[in-house]
Amino acid sequence: MYTQAMDTLEPEPGKGGQAVQPAKQAEEVALQQRFDARIDAGDFIEPKDWMPEHYRKTLVRQISQHAHSEIVGMLPEGNWISRAPTLKRKAILLAKVQDEGGHGLYLYAAAETLGSSRDQLLAALHTGKAKYSSIFNYPTLSWADMGTIGWLVDGAAIMNQVPICRCSYAPYARAMVRICREESFHQRQGYEALLTMMQQGTDAQRAMVQESVNRWWWPSIQMFGPPDDQSPNSAQSMRWGIKRISNDALRQKFIDATVAQAKVLGVTLPDPDLKWNEARQQHDHGSIDWSEFWRVVGGDGPCNRERLGARVKAWQDGAWVREAALAHASKQAAAEQPACA
Ligand SMILES: [Fe+2]
Ligand SMILES: [Fe+2]
Repeated sequence: MYTQAMDTLEPEPGKGGQAVQPAKQAEEVALQQRFDARIDAGDFIEPKDWMPEHYRKTLVRQISQHAHSEIVGMLPEGNWISRAPTLKRKAILLAKVQDEGGHGLYLYAAAETLGSSRDQLLAALHTGKAKYSSIFNYPTLSWADMGTIGWLVDGAAIMNQVPICRCSYAPYARAMVRICREESFHQRQGYEALLTMMQQGTDAQRAMVQESVNRWWWPSIQMFGPPDDQSPNSAQSMRWGIKRISNDALRQKFIDATVAQAKVLGVTLPDPDLKWNEARQQHDHGSIDWSEFWRVVGGDGPCNRERLGARVKAWQDGAWVREAALAHASKQAAAEQPACA
């Protein structure tokens, strides 16, 4: 899945989210001008190309937070694989969770092209220095949550991620093209699972779906990140072509698309102020509780400790695999050395 606005961290000290413009050597000024011109022309930047240090750091932060979100996002759904109601649903859920692991790998590989090692990126996650999408700090309490996560959480992720397929940093854009194709399957399987319960299920199953939607709606629309006027790094990311559409515009697009889907499904979205605004040709919605968002991002959500604990344990349990792979690689390298005459 899953970016939320990955610009929730403070700008670098002293830089205020602005392009760095101290007195530079003439050569560096020329490089900066060439870089700016390429961005303005819509060119893609490749790993070997010169780039400003702040652009590199912004990308490492965003791509690694996105990668962390993919692998932490495996946890709430992974919990339900053994409890899926049919073999078909189990196979679909297994494939989806596996896809999320793959997305993490593409994204860690993209972040590594910027000069940060996998070990450094994961250390930042394990020590709580790096963030991941706050949506995964909520628990999955019923089977309906598997459908709702696909429909709303993967749905919000697609809305966020399609514009990143045109991100100025080419390895990130290429990874996103592949990821978005798989996210589309994730969204549809979730919606189809809910539709089956709503149309062919019992009253208890319909009530379970509604209860699930009630819990996931607000955290899902928070996935687009804070309002534009409280998103300090957005303007610079837009200037660099890392971000293409603002948080509020994406959130509005998601809400407008989801209202119609909810109607077909037969569920009520838990916002009494959600209504069509004829003048704007968009839906108005109720106010979002941003204090909850910041509390969960800050580490105090229902499952923050559990999620991080599970990732740290997985890393520790996998130590022998990494050691074995390194030992094997060094033996292979030694075997390939030409024998001395
Ligand atoms: Fe994903
Ligand atoms: Fe997904």
